[in-house]
Amino acid sequence: MPHIQEYQQLLEKRIQKLELPKEPKNLYDPLRYFLTLGGKRTRPCLTMLGCHLFGAPGIKAVNAALAVELFHNFTLIHDDIMDDAPLRRGKTTVHEKWDRDIAILSGDVLFVEAYSLLAKHDTVVLPKLLNVFTRTAREVCEGQQMDMDYESMDNIKIDDYIEMIRLKTSVLLGAALEMGALIGGAEDEKDIRSIYNFGVNVGLAFQMHDDILDLYADPEKFGKQVGGDILSNKKTYLLLKAYEMADDNTKSKLDDMLMNQNGQEKVDNAKTIFEQLGVRQKAEEQKEIFYQKAILNMKEINVPEENKRELLDLAKYLMSRDH
Ligand code: IPE
Ligand code: IPE
Ligand code: MG
Ligand code: MG
Ligand code: MG
Repeated sequence: MPHIQEYQQLLEKRIQKLELPKEPKNLYDPLRYFLTLGGKRTRPCLTMLGCHLFGAPGIKAVNAALAVELFHNFTLIHDDIMDDAPLRRGKTTVHEKWDRDIAILSGDVLFVEAYSLLAKHDTVVLPKLLNVFTRTAREVCEGQQMDMDYESMDNIKIDDYIEMIRLKTSVLLGAALEMGALIGGAEDEKDIRSIYNFGVNVGLAFQMHDDILDLYADPEKFGKQVGGDILSNKKTYLLLKAYEMADDNTKSKLDDMLMNQNGQEKVDNAKTIFEQLGVRQKAEEQKEIFYQKAILNMKEINVPEENKRELLDLAKYLMSRDH
């Protein structure tokens, strides 16, 4: 069996068996609910594969992997409040099923739980892990704040968008891999930098794919609300590229769409304008550039080629996922 499937099964089992207290129910029930909704478990797989890449068994990194997944789930619970999202992984979001305060606090406790799992690693590697994890958690908050600020700003450029998605999404994929690599015994600074950059570039392509799916996914498969980014005026690559390519007439249509419309009409109008301008294709091209950069990063790493295969396969799968 390929490592990746083995890791996914193991992670799923470990997540189901996490020892969470029963009381207060309104704190822990939402966590149990959220953690058993599924999810692709991409980031913890990256951690275990990052460890495997440097010749150690992936299982050695399982606690860091779980820490990364719990941290990710915490960010999703809070992200759904901020984005006013009704659906996650095909089910009602925590703040809608319970309420906003409960979603805030159960998210917080998940973050704490992530640290306690990370702290199980031995004291030789732990300071390094804490350093990467803490820096990354701060960056994710910074990216999320920029994402929200940009909703009401009209002077955002594509470079600002890329920096925002680097922080809110990509650094976590980089950190997941770097932590795995450190646990796996990676010592060469250049290799560590390259595996981190591989993760960041995959992460940039991953978030661009997410933004494309947000508008174009099959609602049956996506598990999230289709069109949510348009409804909350997110400054995605699609929207910014549309502004960049539009003539004055189309620019005023875009302004009108953002300022005066709502609901399905707004989403449909965005789609029509984007279609006329061909921005989806442009987004796909930019996504491909990040993906190719990631492949170059992987080439630089000095480990046996066969150790790289599954990470490359996973990256490739992420570029065409439907949810
Ligand atoms: C969703 O991440 C949040 C983004 C950064 C786009 P995933 O697509 O990995 O979500 P799950 O964990 O599989 O549900
Ligand atoms: C989320 O970006 C990034 C996080 C840090 C959670 P999105 O807001 O696009 O993620 P989804 O689409 O809700 O999963
Ligand atoms: Mg968001
Ligand atoms: Mg969101
Ligand atoms: Mg999204």
